[in-house]
Amino acid sequence: MRSLRAAPDEPVTAVVYATKGLVDVVAAEVTELVPARIVERTDRFLLVRLTPAQLADLGARARTVDDVRLLVAGPAPVTGAGDLQRLGAVAADAVEARLGASEEPWSVTLAARNPPWRRRPRWEPAPVLAATLHGADAAATARRPVDLRLQVDGEQAHLAVNLWERPLGKADGPAWRGALRPTVAAALVRIALGAAGPAARAAGLYDPFCGSGTIVAEAARAGLAVQASDRAPEAVALTRERLAALGVPDPQVFVRDVLRGPDQRVSARIVVGNLPWGTQQPVDGRIALFDAVAHLVAQRVAGDGAAALLTTHEEALVARLRRHGLAVTARRIGLLGQTPAVVTAHPA
Ligand SMILES: C[S@@+](CC[C@H](N)C(=O)[O-])C[C@H]1O[C@@H](n2cnc3c(N)ncnc32)[C@H](O)[C@@H]1O
Repeated sequence: MRSLRAAPDEPVTAVVYATKGLVDVVAAEVTELVPARIVERTDRFLLVRLTPAQLADLGARARTVDDVRLLVAGPAPVTGAGDLQRLGAVAADAVEARLGASEEPWSVTLAARNPPWRRRPRWEPAPVLAATLHGADAAATARRPVDLRLQVDGEQAHLAVNLWERPLGKADGPAWRGALRPTVAAALVRIALGAAGPAARAAGLYDPFCGSGTIVAEAARAGLAVQASDRAPEAVALTRERLAALGVPDPQVFVRDVLRGPDQRVSARIVVGNLPWGTQQPVDGRIALFDAVAHLVAQRVAGDGAAALLTTHEEALVARLRRHGLAVTARRIGLLGQTPAVVTAHPA
């Protein structure tokens, strides 16, 4: 983390960004890692008061968090260009006070939902941001060493500055079609763990659609025994390598088509998976796949086990899991411009 000009015990405000629909899971991890005070919670971020040392610790250890930044202006109402200019000026002063002066141009990312500049009379935020934030270009895609994020929701806005070179939750795994964002994988693991009992936790976690192994990598980091399979041998090889690199001895990863039914080698009682999405799986096969997944889950979670499954077709999956007598809940999340659901199931 960049060093901050603040006394070690002087609290600062951090913005913790979460995937939409997972903010409660992120808040639970944050409070578990640092005794921080969450002063505001929206569906996309938390504002957290904590010391610089706690901030560094949070950045080093959090797994479900998409990014952590230092709040430098707002949240404040912004209705016109004048308000945005004032917010930008406050941010520029705060960045220089906390991080020191920088000669290089800055960058700025806009995350705006229903922003005031799209209402009549329309106005352009880019020139205001460039003028107040060291020439920052709102249309540029490259991040500068000093990178600000303007978060706008209706008339509420804040500006926050990066403290790490790249967003904390940025994918770092092997390239694989359909690879999951690691922070979402970590959240799925936490959701399933929260629904499972101690015996199931001790028996470990299984991902039957492992792809590049993002979910089992997060589970292994959380200290769980893991098992994984995929019908694609290349995926199995990637996952095995990824687990070995994390220090998992003799990773249990094998080729298996879920349509063939539960695999005798699996002993884990927590099932977490990211089901094939959209065009990856022909529609004809999807119903058969959901039948097979529901059967596998019901068999594995008996007792105190639990499952968390990410799918773009939750209704069909929920109905099938309920037919097996499982208690099922679903929540939508925002991912890659889509709204897949996390379906959680455990014995009723
Ligand atoms: C959305 S991807 C999972 C991505 C993984 N979570 C990751 O981060 O890389 C779905 C995976 O399911 C696998 N798959 C599709 N149909 C399957 C089936 N019938 N049985 C087992 N695996 C299957 C695909 O090979 C693909 O790797």
